[in-house]
Amino acid sequence: MRILGIETSCDETAAAVVEDARAILSNVVASQMTTHGKYGGVVPELASREHLRAIVPVVRDALEQAGCSLADLSAVAVTEGPGLVGSLLVGITYAKSLCFAKSLPLIGVNHMEGHIHAVLLEAAADGRQVLFPVLALVASGGHTHLFEVREPGQYRLLGRTRDDAAGEAFDKVAKLLGFPYPGGPIIDRLAPHGDPHGVRFTLAKMKGNPLDFSFSGLKTAVVRWVEQRDLAAEIETRRALVRHNPAPAREDWLAVTPKSTLDLLASFQQTVVDELLRRALAAAEVMDAETVIISGGVACNAGLRKAAASARFGCPVLFPTPALSTDNAVMIAAAAFPKLERKQFAGWDLRARAHLTLA
Ligand code: KG4
Ligand code: ZN
Repeated sequence: MRILGIETSCDETAAAVVEDARAILSNVVASQMTTHGKYGGVVPELASREHLRAIVPVVRDALEQAGCSLADLSAVAVTEGPGLVGSLLVGITYAKSLCFAKSLPLIGVNHMEGHIHAVLLEAAADGRQVLFPVLALVASGGHTHLFEVREPGQYRLLGRTRDDAAGEAFDKVAKLLGFPYPGGPIIDRLAPHGDPHGVRFTLAKMKGNPLDFSFSGLKTAVVRWVEQRDLAAEIETRRALVRHNPAPAREDWLAVTPKSTLDLLASFQQTVVDELLRRALAAAEVMDAETVIISGGVACNAGLRKAAASARFGCPVLFPTPALSTDNAVMIAAAAFPKLERKQFAGWDLRARAHLTLA
């Protein structure tokens, strides 16, 4: 059984063909990074326009690379939310038209469920069994959620961010310091060059659910740190670097980033990693997790991977490979297989749902 997955919820136009929830036949991702980079974040109108431009060639490439035609598919799966409405609409409308033209079943997938399935697919591909219940931490630019997964398709929300998502905090701190979007990968590359204890952040104590996250206080602390220093010239040097070189290497960034700023970046990353793992550890204990899954764009973070490996979860901790951590359509197709089995198909009334929840 082959499913074509389509993902357009944010700033990546992606299509992939997956066979039997375990074999990736193709995985095509057209990134809009160069479009949004200079704005410091995703500009929704530009994102929709770029999706419109990319969707036809991206799906065509995915089918070609998989060596199959629409007639070889069992279904088309598409992200229905959460995400940017204008962006989601492009994928949904295109998926609907393919299904209508070829009489294929249409499957709507929650983007966060996709991130979790990226890990389940890779485990299945390697012939590794994943024991349930699973604690899933989904940390990306749009969400930071902890889910209890009793079995595939059964989710219970344990905690979520009350303000910024973890990736959003990375992106905002990077932007504040003159780095382009997305800031997460840049901070990740520079953090090992700074002292993670160089800057001390005191985190506000939160009332209510102890498994909820909050990153806005940390962001404000970074804003204060920047305001207390005269960084205008330093920040302008970095902006100028990007104007001349859209993809600077680590050495280029190091040449325009003094030790004090590297210490700040390392300390900021360390704090985010500590916060993510502290709550994931507490959640895993509360629900007696047999496996921990950490996925979403922030799961690419080397500091997080290293810290998770030495954290005392008492059960296996699984990350997707970096290519399947950030947004892709393999994960959307993978998440659709259990729905195909249950014949859980969407109708023509499938709509883009910006705030779709998983549980
Ligand atoms: O999952 P994703 O591709 O899109 C959303 O669903 O939001 O995640 C993108 C987010 C961005 O905020 C980006 O800065 C962050 O993931 N990210 C990282 C790293 N790579 C991507 N954050 C920290 N370290 C990284 N290496
Ligand atoms: Zn995502």
